[in-house]
Amino acid sequence: LCKPQHILVTGGAGFIGANFVHWVMKNHPEVYITVLDALTYAGRRSSLKGCDESRYTFIHGDICDAQLVEQILAQPGKRTYDGRPIAPIDAVVHFAAESHNDNAIADPMPFLQTNVTGTAVLLQAVRKHHIRFHHISTDEVYGDLSLDSPEKFTEHSPYRPSSPYAASKAASDHLVRSWFRTYGVPVTISNCSNNFGPYQHVEKFIPRQITNILTGRPAKLYGAGLAVRDWIAVDDHCAAVWAVLTRGKLGETYLIGANGEHSNLDVLRLILTCMGKDEHDFEHVADRPGADRRYALDASKIERELGWHPQHTQFEEQIERTIAWYASHQEWWIHDKAATERSYQLQGH
Ligand code: NAD
Ligand code: DAU
Repeated sequence: LCKPQHILVTGGAGFIGANFVHWVMKNHPEVYITVLDALTYAGRRSSLKGCDESRYTFIHGDICDAQLVEQILAQPGKRTYDGRPIAPIDAVVHFAAESHNDNAIADPMPFLQTNVTGTAVLLQAVRKHHIRFHHISTDEVYGDLSLDSPEKFTEHSPYRPSSPYAASKAASDHLVRSWFRTYGVPVTISNCSNNFGPYQHVEKFIPRQITNILTGRPAKLYGAGLAVRDWIAVDDHCAAVWAVLTRGKLGETYLIGANGEHSNLDVLRLILTCMGKDEHDFEHVADRPGADRRYALDASKIERELGWHPQHTQFEEQIERTIAWYASHQEWWIHDKAATERSYQLQGH
């Protein structure tokens, strides 16, 4: 069992990382957090607004910067929180990544740098300082499934990444496993399905449609919209990561999913209906080259072994909450909207 006192969250200003920081602050007030984030186009300092400033430190920096990472992990822990000294960092939860498939198709190189080199830099540092490491990964490392089979990914599925993003995440998973076996670094890995919820960048499917509708743009569906994604509310992912970090077995991989399979067309129709639009009111645009058809996860291992179960599985209710969040947080996303749409237009999406 791991009872972390001070965790380093990489990518803590991104979508899932920021939700995780909020989740830990709310559910584990005894834990101090250091966030390391490069604030790329996908990171936003304001996603951490509302977090108690005395309970975390934000460091603006790159996970590929070995000197900085060493400096952070070697810190003696002399500062104080709540009158008590802040403990040295005793666990790393590694979210930082280039995360968007369309960007990887346009230019894969930053994905290799951050996702592969960045993960290796962190692994070397935790190896030196004997620090627990939890690696956040994706179901996309397993490739895709056919639309009409009942099959789901399990922890034993072969790695078959189809896209440059997925291949870079697969490479990072392999690095983590090899640092466990070769050097005995205390690691765990979780591979999760598609998340949705607050603070997700407007480039991603669900927030793109919601914010297109909110700004009077047409919703955009890739291809015929038959591809299936296995959706999970981001808070459920956060709780699962905590379960693996604190109760997971070292060297093991856990799949995280919530039985939330829906076709893109169905999700889009639901969003349109919830927002008072006609369900046919969207445009078809070009699909991705080599697009993955279906993802579906069997999460029975984490349910059985760690007792984690998703709590937010009413999909329509969660979509409504997400729409309400974007409608009431325009100041958070409006600055990214025009540039994101311009870049999609250039790519034919
Ligand atoms: P995101 O793109 O919203 O956020 C990524 C964060 O990492 C940003 O804050 C960015 O500034 C930061 N970052 C990027 N490069 C960095 C670098 N070199 N150094 C430091 N910080 C850097 O991503 P997300 O959707 O929150 O995904 C987080 C993690 O979860 C990723 O590892 C991703 O592969 C994984 N994941 C995502 C999903 C999903 O549905 N979004 C599902 C499964 C797994
Ligand atoms: O499965 C987990 C993965 O989920 C994570 O590892 C990735 O970081 C995350 O970005 C996500 O990848 P996807 O490529 O599945 O998500 P995205 O939101 O980009 O697209 C979801 C589906 O919706 C996909 O089939 C493409 C389609 N799509 C996307 C956009 C942006 C549309 O139909 N219209 C759109 O405008």
